[in-house]
Amino acid sequence: MVDVDRVLAALTLQEKAGLTSGADFWHTKAVERLELPAVMVADGPHGLRKQVAEGGSAELGESVPATCFPTAAALGSTWDPELLQRVGAALGRETRANGVSVLLGPGVNIKRTPLCGRNFEYVSEDPLVAGALGAALVAGVQSEGVGTSLKHFAANNQETDRMRVSADVDERTLREIYLPAFERIVTQAKPWTVMCSYNRINGTYASQHPWLLTQVLRDEWGFDGVVVSDWGAAHDRVAALTAGLDLQMPGVGTRPDLDVVSAVIDGQLDEQVLDGAVRRVLQLVDRAQPAVADPGTADLDAHHELAREAAVAGSVLLRNERVGGAPLLPLEADAARGAVVVGEFARTPRYQGAGSSQVHATRVDDALTALRAATGAELPFAPGFSLAGDDEHDEVLRTDAVAAARDASVVLVFLGLPAADESEGYDRPRWGLPDNQVRTLAAIAQVNPKIVVVLSNGSAVNVSPWRELAPAILETWLSGQAGGSAVAEVLLGHRSPEGRLTETIPHRLVDTPAFGSFPGEGGHVRYGEGVLVGYRWYDARDLEVAYPFGHGLTYTTFAYEEVAAQVHGEGAAATVDVSVRVTNTGTRDGAEVVQVYVGDPEASVQRPVRELRAFRKVWLAPGESQVVSLTLTARDLSYWHPDLRRWVVEGGTFVVEVGASSRDLRGSVEVEVVGEPIWPPLTAMSTVAEWLADPAGGPVLRAALAAGGVTELAAHWSAELAQVPLRVAVDFGMAAGFGPDQVNALVRDVTAAVPTA
Ligand code: BGC
Repeated sequence: MVDVDRVLAALTLQEKAGLTSGADFWHTKAVERLELPAVMVADGPHGLRKQVAEGGSAELGESVPATCFPTAAALGSTWDPELLQRVGAALGRETRANGVSVLLGPGVNIKRTPLCGRNFEYVSEDPLVAGALGAALVAGVQSEGVGTSLKHFAANNQETDRMRVSADVDERTLREIYLPAFERIVTQAKPWTVMCSYNRINGTYASQHPWLLTQVLRDEWGFDGVVVSDWGAAHDRVAALTAGLDLQMPGVGTRPDLDVVSAVIDGQLDEQVLDGAVRRVLQLVDRAQPAVADPGTADLDAHHELAREAAVAGSVLLRNERVGGAPLLPLEADAARGAVVVGEFARTPRYQGAGSSQVHATRVDDALTALRAATGAELPFAPGFSLAGDDEHDEVLRTDAVAAARDASVVLVFLGLPAADESEGYDRPRWGLPDNQVRTLAAIAQVNPKIVVVLSNGSAVNVSPWRELAPAILETWLSGQAGGSAVAEVLLGHRSPEGRLTETIPHRLVDTPAFGSFPGEGGHVRYGEGVLVGYRWYDARDLEVAYPFGHGLTYTTFAYEEVAAQVHGEGAAATVDVSVRVTNTGTRDGAEVVQVYVGDPEASVQRPVRELRAFRKVWLAPGESQVVSLTLTARDLSYWHPDLRRWVVEGGTFVVEVGASSRDLRGSVEVEVVGEPIWPPLTAMSTVAEWLADPAGGPVLRAALAAGGVTELAAHWSAELAQVPLRVAVDFGMAAGFGPDQVNALVRDVTAAVPTA
């Protein structure tokens, strides 16, 4: 174990500076004379990527075999925190067994645009889903005695120019959309480390952002772990330490450490600031020791099974039309044996994305082999298209696929994005599937309408041009090393698809919230859509979408009854108990994700029509019924007040909606909530109306006017003038005997009269 106080007291200034940067790519520094060991960190997030060659290189290189769990896009779609906790624990066991102390994940950045190249590593367009599932994953990993690195803090929502671009975002939008997932995970699951992002936020690098790293993360949320830089995100170590960054990764030689030493000697950096960072690094090393001493083992067979369970749970059945009387899926045994499989992805699965998260999987299941094994039939296969896209070759492949599909009982068509479309480091080059795939689908549809499309992609793709050609569509995302066998289980009905969309699938790219401002220009990307991200945008604009947030079909049906909501308390202490009875009204087992949305139709700021505030996944047998009860907090009713700079509950009528997706709402209740007083500080530039409406300012202004002989307010302060700042109204001579001095006196009086919030 590390005696943190003893080591800290014994360290030289040079050693202290050294401990706040890495020894190499993956290790912290050891101090041998004090018997302080180094610890190792490794990617992350959905599998361990521990490079075989120690230290050094930025190359992905060869890494130790590890279970490649479904990517965050698929894990998020499970809407199942308990399952994510188990996946996290398995990740933790593999991390520990390999002598690694911190797994670099999860990533919980919000999916602002479907084109973000790294969306497959992120959970959702919604902060509650990202936060609740991220917290479960962190809790699971850390239950095994190793740490996590919650990333990328913050506003890293695109890959284009990610190392320099300034995300220009107003505070309310940060507080309501881009920060809450981090906040929830930090406060509830206490990750050992948080990784700051590469980008700038409103002009300042995240690694040097005192508001972000100290005021919000540590002072408000109580984070006591290590803030680590993304790899190469620290530029000015003195500014970074001052702002709250503890550990620069990777190590880049001694120059930045010497800068720190000089800054302390020059008095530019308070040594106590350095000591604080060193203390946190020492605490991290200390925390890691029990697991390092006792690495244990990981059961890779069991983890493969768990990866399959998660892939099933995260696959989203987008569409399942009736063909000949019954929904096309699940396949009956005879239909399954007469199936033809088309599409390269059935044989060559695309199960993870490119970049730092790429895992050397312990094994990989492909759907073709799994389907053949499960049906006991030698199902014909045709690749249907080439992954590289070669017109001439594709024509031949297409013709072969059409011939094979013509007499099939059902055609299982595996489509998706080529690997080069989705990677860390750049954004997606296109929004749709490659043309060669769509052409093959269309050609098959002309000879056989019984088509099931199985999709492999890490983020929403354009389904609108072709979805009518396929009565059934199963979105499997990038579903990890057991995705192939998982999809066979789902298609054959051995398991039900359980996933729900954590991101909207819009019809057109031009409909998306960031269209026009993404990816920015001149080094800036302006988040002009504000809080209207994802479904919040499509609902505000009343736009048709292909599949809404929260959507996902099962092999059964559910009824919602007895939706009720009851308010307790008021203002910042208000809570709302919501309940609903859910019944499985079909003939098969199934999982329903009950979603609770809240809207505040009359608010003094623009608010989304509805926002997801609670959810619960329940598993019900046919005929089984369960009352689901969820409690909303005052925060769930609040918005971030831009002037008061705090959360406020504005009183009035709130709409609580309960449903199976953001556009499949099955019940709605209006509740009255008593709000808290919201009175932004009055200034000389507050309008006359604001003065008059204010409980402290109104009487003071009226009294001052009366003292000057102005008693008939209506005559002097018309509706139009009410919108004029008090100072300007006075300059206009609207109140005889009232000048700037009187206004200043009023501001003084009222500041004294109003207790500050
Ligand atoms: C990525 C991080 C990753 C780190 C270490 C960076 O380029 O953005 O997500 O953890 O590299 O590989």
